[in-house]
Amino acid sequence: MLSVAILAAGKGTRMESSLPKVLHKVSGKSLLQRVIDSCIKLNPDQIYVIIGHKSKEVRESIKNNNNIQFILQDPQSGTGHAVQILCNQVEKIEGKLLVLNGDVPLIKSKTLQKLVNLHDSKNAEVSLITTKKKNPNGYGRVFLKGDFIERIVEEKDCNKRERLNSLINAGIYCFNWRNLSKIITSLKNDNNQKEIYLTDTVVLLRNSLSLEVEDDGELQGINNRIQLSECEEIFQNSIKEKHMLRGVTFINKASCSISEEAEIGKDVTIEANTHIRGNTKILNNCIIGPNTFVENSNVGIYCEISNSTIFDSQIMDHIKIGPYSHIRPNSQISSRCKIGNFVEIKNSQLEEESKVNHLSYIGDSIIGTSTNIGAGTITANFDGQKKYQTKIGKNSRIGANTVFVAPINLGESVTTGAGSVITKDSKDNSLAISRTKQVNIENWEGRKS
Ligand code: UD1
Ligand code: CA
Repeated sequence: MLSVAILAAGKGTRMESSLPKVLHKVSGKSLLQRVIDSCIKLNPDQIYVIIGHKSKEVRESIKNNNNIQFILQDPQSGTGHAVQILCNQVEKIEGKLLVLNGDVPLIKSKTLQKLVNLHDSKNAEVSLITTKKKNPNGYGRVFLKGDFIERIVEEKDCNKRERLNSLINAGIYCFNWRNLSKIITSLKNDNNQKEIYLTDTVVLLRNSLSLEVEDDGELQGINNRIQLSECEEIFQNSIKEKHMLRGVTFINKASCSISEEAEIGKDVTIEANTHIRGNTKILNNCIIGPNTFVENSNVGIYCEISNSTIFDSQIMDHIKIGPYSHIRPNSQISSRCKIGNFVEIKNSQLEEESKVNHLSYIGDSIIGTSTNIGAGTITANFDGQKKYQTKIGKNSRIGANTVFVAPINLGESVTTGAGSVITKDSKDNSLAISRTKQVNIENWEGRKS
């Protein structure tokens, strides 16, 4: 049997935040959720999350999962105290208990599995992950005696010599439940922080083992915003490297961010300052950016999107968008369309080869194939209470500055006069025009005087 305990009760004082530390995010997902997700892959029988500071907020942030049980630790008197509370509340104590600090978000399940395997194969009472850090500041230092861990000394309790030890405790432990429960109440708080340290268990248990791993960033703990930003960078670099090795070019890697779910095809160029978020899929040969934000959208082959934002939409093939377009949710832009400068599109469907090139708002609309929407066209879709649809058939020519007062339904091959306010439906092949005829009053300058 394998159980997991994640320590997430602390306030995270060094974050200087009203948000509990474990709810801060790395690439859009909270530190705690990341740790939980890594553990879930091990298929544990039960996951305990120890909560305390702002416990309601922390509990509500977690995706529903029947396997998760919350344990309240109040007050929070240290990592050892957290596990004391847990042992107190759990009746059946069997098998292994994997304990993880909730602020080590990049830990991989592969590494956790290695720890469990080592623990099993060596019949240890406790095994924990260690690594050598160039800058071990802030971490507990691990002292070995032969093959075993002799003790762990927290930075604040270290003397000068002890501080030089660069082997650190990553805050991830595998215990033998039964042995742990026998000694857990003996932990004391006789240290500089007056806290009950979980790390002191290595002295009380026999066969304490260290799994030393080479640190490629996954063990980074987060105590302050500098470390949070370092973690984000480590994580983003690994995502971008994965895409680069699969054929994506980044013009200025550092200025871009990519969600872990995003899929990007071959020979795609990501220009500077471009952010691909959520469940986005970009197919081959696109140029995305500079200064572009795409969230939860699909983009087909050979699209060029510059200086624009796109949310929850479908962009098909060979489409040019931008500069300065805003495609809002539930829009579908079909192949070979062109969406131009300062154009906003919302909840609309544009059929193939239609064009909205300049300064327009198209909302709740269906625009037919090869229709051209003139500069400044607006769909007035809202009467103050409800939204209405505008339908424009294929091959239409919409004059500049047309206003469609929805609901409106235009046939195919319709032309509208520039500056018209269209309030009535019109049939195929018609001209819809609604503006006063121009009057030229002669000698105007003369009449003024
Ligand atoms: C801890 C370890 C240290 C290790 C480091 C790795 C101890 C005593 N020290 O130090 O050896 O190098 O992690 O990152 O364990 N928490 C609770 N209840 C509490 C206190 C803390 O649930 O009463 C939770 C926190 O929310 C956090 C985790 O435990 O997620 C670690 O606590 P933190 O205060 O950050 O420990 P460190 O000082 O980093
Ligand atoms: Ca920490």
